[in-house]
Amino acid sequence: MQYRHFGKLDWKVSALGFGAMRLPILDGKSSNIDQAKATEMIRYAIDNGVNYFDTAYVYHDQKSEGAVGLALKDGYRERIKIATKLPIWLVKTTADFNRLLNEQLERLQTDHIDFYLLHALNKGSWQKILDLNLIEEAEKALADGRIRHLGFSFHDKLDTFKQIVDGYDKWTFCQIQYNFMDTEFQAGKEGLQYAAAKGLAVVIMEPLRGGKLAADIPAARPLWESAAIQRKPADWALQWLWNQPEVAVVLSGMSTLDQLKENVESAAVSSIGLLSAQELELVEKVNKELTARSPIPCTACEYCLPCPHGVNIPRNFESYNNAAMYNDVNDSRMDYKMWISDPEKASECIQCDECLDKCPQQIAISTWMPVIDSVLGQGQPFVEKVA
Ligand SMILES: NC(=O)c1ccc[n+]([C@@H]2O[C@H](COP(=O)([O-])OP(=O)(O)OC[C@H]3O[C@@H](n4cnc5c(N)ncnc54)[C@H](OP(=O)(O)O)[C@@H]3O)[C@@H](O)[C@H]2O)c1
Repeated sequence: MQYRHFGKLDWKVSALGFGAMRLPILDGKSSNIDQAKATEMIRYAIDNGVNYFDTAYVYHDQKSEGAVGLALKDGYRERIKIATKLPIWLVKTTADFNRLLNEQLERLQTDHIDFYLLHALNKGSWQKILDLNLIEEAEKALADGRIRHLGFSFHDKLDTFKQIVDGYDKWTFCQIQYNFMDTEFQAGKEGLQYAAAKGLAVVIMEPLRGGKLAADIPAARPLWESAAIQRKPADWALQWLWNQPEVAVVLSGMSTLDQLKENVESAAVSSIGLLSAQELELVEKVNKELTARSPIPCTACEYCLPCPHGVNIPRNFESYNNAAMYNDVNDSRMDYKMWISDPEKASECIQCDECLDKCPQQIAISTWMPVIDSVLGQGQPFVEKVA
């Protein structure tokens, strides 16, 4: 295993961190964790040098922390650092901070959490944290030792990210979604560099875009095959991250022991600056090749918003474009069903055309919306172009 600086701390983190959001499950039920397999994986990771474990109150229908706690018995807890997260959306009053934190300590069967994150921050939840004085509560938990370091994970735009980084001067770390396809998404590369320059350790989540970048994508295959050194797609994506000095630890949400073994092997040979200029160019080419597959040239500038009927236009476009980019329409259908709320779905468009003049890319928004709903919402065949 390779170890890396963790911000300003006098402690080194393994290049690979274990994300406990995709533990092996039984009967296809997220809440039904296969404890024997999860324990085997977690202990294999520790025995092979992984020292950072990331979970959250809500993962696996609130069962992940308990599963991690069980796996860390028999002396494994003392060998690693645990990160877990406060679900801000479940916090209604200031007192909820302690209630949830104490419950998490019990689930994890530990007396302290090494890295405590305020989960999935965005503009609204940051304001809630300030309104409910949750930073003060966290400082009390830091003082009494229940938590050792405070950080946050993030899902919003870059300017909000900078505002949160600058909004508290004692963050130890932050966690962002970052991979070679998401360099300008949410915090992105600029956010990574911004936080690292301020001394925060930056923890990477979704390094494989939830698994999409590990797949054998037909559009990317000939490019990967042209490389002088052959790597699997997952290895390319991980090495691209470890290549960057601002990255502290890359979390992977592995669901099988084989994936874990592969990623441990990748991490063992990783280093800053490992990839040559040609290899970095190749990754860039894969990015361009996949991006070029997007049928809709939306840049998510959001000039079209707010839609008077509540449609989240860029989000619907993103889901549709992903189907083409990653050659996986079923995944986008699932995304549309599960993660775009009904009032924000393409189906709500009434073709009022108020957005048309606002789109710098001159996308035929109201023509696309019924197409998106028919393909993603009603299972019709994928369409590349609209008239
Ligand atoms: N704070 C937050 O808001 C937040 C949000 C998201 C994630 N996270 C954390 O960050 C962690 C990492 O994110 P993620 O789970 O989305 O990571 P990811 O690495 O982008 O995706 C994980 C998926 O990649 C696939 N995979 C991993 N290694 C592979 C390999 N060697 N070969 C082939 N496929 C491989 C698996 O997909 P299959 O299972 O389909 O095979 C796995 O489930 C999470 O586990 C969680 O701890 C936090």
